[in-house]
Amino acid sequence: MTDTSGSVTASLPIRTDMDLAWVRQHVRQAAAGLGFGLVDQTKLVTAASELARNTLVHGGGGQVESTVLGAGAARGLRLTFSDEGPGIPDVERALGDGYTSGGGLGLGLGGARRLVHEFSIDSRPGEGTAVTVVCWTAGAPRQREESR
Ligand SMILES: Nc1ncnc2c1ncn2[C@@H]1O[C@H](COP(=O)(O)OP(=O)(O)O)[C@@H](O)[C@H]1O
Ligand SMILES: [Mg+2]
Repeated sequence: MTDTSGSVTASLPIRTDMDLAWVRQHVRQAAAGLGFGLVDQTKLVTAASELARNTLVHGGGGQVESTVLGAGAARGLRLTFSDEGPGIPDVERALGDGYTSGGGLGLGLGGARRLVHEFSIDSRPGEGTAVTVVCWTAGAPRQREESR
């Protein structure tokens, strides 16, 4: 039996630069607590840091919800970054390396996707954006979901 439903274990605001630091700390602690190794912790923290910054800078602020998942012996951490900002008109373009709508390096979204096991974007112009990522502990299902 596989149970990937999970339940929200934390919801953190993303409104200020200080909040970005709290998000990084939360993700590091949650990943360590689930038994992720140092390298995997750092991958997830790096992805979370980029996505949280996008929520703040491009989305005008929002929140992240963190959920612990179980699938057999494996454990996972799911993070959903959401905002009610302008949305992303062309998601494929935004995922491309080097694309920025202003001022950035344009590596955050595509980079984050490469650092996690599952990645999806739900974005509606004028309504907002939700980016969900999942990382599993070793031995876990490694299917890549790149839907949106
Ligand atoms: N939460 C968001 N809301 C609106 N647009 C976003 C959001 N996240 C990313 N984007 C868009 O995707 C582009 C690429 O994001 P990213 O790769 O992180 O590059 P950067 O942040 O350096 O511009 C951004 O420039 C922006 O146009
Ligand atoms: Mg970015």
